[in-house]
Amino acid sequence: MTEKIKWGVISPGKIAHAFAKGIKTIPDAEIVAVASSSKKRAETFAKKYKVPKAYDAYATLVADPNVDAVYISSLHHQHFEHSMLALEAGKHVLCEKPMTVTAAETKKLIERAREKKLFLMEALWTRFLPIYDTVRQWLDAGRIGEIKMMTSTFGFRPERDETGRLFDPNLAGGALLDIGIYPLAVSEWVMGAFPEAIKVHALMGNTGVDELLSAILVYKNGVVSQFTSTFLAENMNDFFIYGTKGHIRIHPNFWGSAGATLSVTNKKDEVVSAPFRATGFEYQTEEAMRCIRAGFLESPKVSHDYTLSMMTLMDDIRAEIGLKYPFE
Ligand SMILES: NC(=O)c1ccc[n+]([C@@H]2O[C@H](COP(=O)([O-])OP(=O)(O)OC[C@H]3O[C@@H](n4cnc5c(N)ncnc54)[C@H](OP(=O)(O)O)[C@@H]3O)[C@@H](O)[C@H]2O)c1
Repeated sequence: MTEKIKWGVISPGKIAHAFAKGIKTIPDAEIVAVASSSKKRAETFAKKYKVPKAYDAYATLVADPNVDAVYISSLHHQHFEHSMLALEAGKHVLCEKPMTVTAAETKKLIERAREKKLFLMEALWTRFLPIYDTVRQWLDAGRIGEIKMMTSTFGFRPERDETGRLFDPNLAGGALLDIGIYPLAVSEWVMGAFPEAIKVHALMGNTGVDELLSAILVYKNGVVSQFTSTFLAENMNDFFIYGTKGHIRIHPNFWGSAGATLSVTNKKDEVVSAPFRATGFEYQTEEAMRCIRAGFLESPKVSHDYTLSMMTLMDDIRAEIGLKYPFE
């Protein structure tokens, strides 16, 4: 067996569990250390996933010579600092979405990763899910003809905690950075390009962040993608791609989907299911490991250029809706 890649986890909150469960299905990977601002949280996580080291300081984790790569699952406003800490210590980085809060921060991380010859990727897990390979094959084969439009929603009604990461501007809350990033990312994936024009509308809540964001993205040849991301309503959360001959539906929740339907006019629907081995996070981890072993500094599937352009697009959308965070 290939030598194992040894992972460290920074900030073992909710989503870090999906990462840890995914890694259990990868024989040549293991988590060897975890760090949290709370020693208890680190120890609880370490016990659950049989992680040998639990630290109460991130600096201790990145200084651990046994750690090859770091998965960062802290909050949006902490991603820059934690990713930079890991890069400076010579560790490869897989950081939760969004990569940072601003494009300027992402640019600095990319520059540093390249200088240090380290791998850096935004953990955009959707892009590595097996069902997306099927959708890509349908699109490439022209099964729905020429693409004309896309529609999607990412909406749910969370418990209203105004000091939590979804609503608090000090934690870079709001629908765009947290969930709007997915329809933006899948639209880009379908088109292989960023929009040429955007129209956006937001409902800002009393904490000052966007609780609903609706957007129309206009691509080359007038292809449009319309989406809403919101914390105000329970949505269907599927993603439709419409063409001249039919349409594709990526089943809910489209950002973590294991199924899709191809509907071509006057033909029987094709329904495909592609279940995950574990949580779905294992595929992005495998991609990061493939790239690290090959000596790549970035993945072609979530490249540095892609992430920087996405952050620039989100900067533009935030400027349009007047969303500036207190720490900016
Ligand atoms: N890929 C996906 O599907 C997906 C899904 C959900 C979230 N995410 C992303 O993953 C990241 C973490 O989300 P999560 O839901 O796991 O978050 P979470 O459980 O609320 O918190 C994650 C960590 O952030 C730190 N933290 C939490 N609240 C804090 C506060 N008020 N002030 C300072 N630090 C605080 C803690 O780090 P310490 O343990 O070090 O104290 C905590 O363990 C976010 O960037 C989010 O966008 C991704």
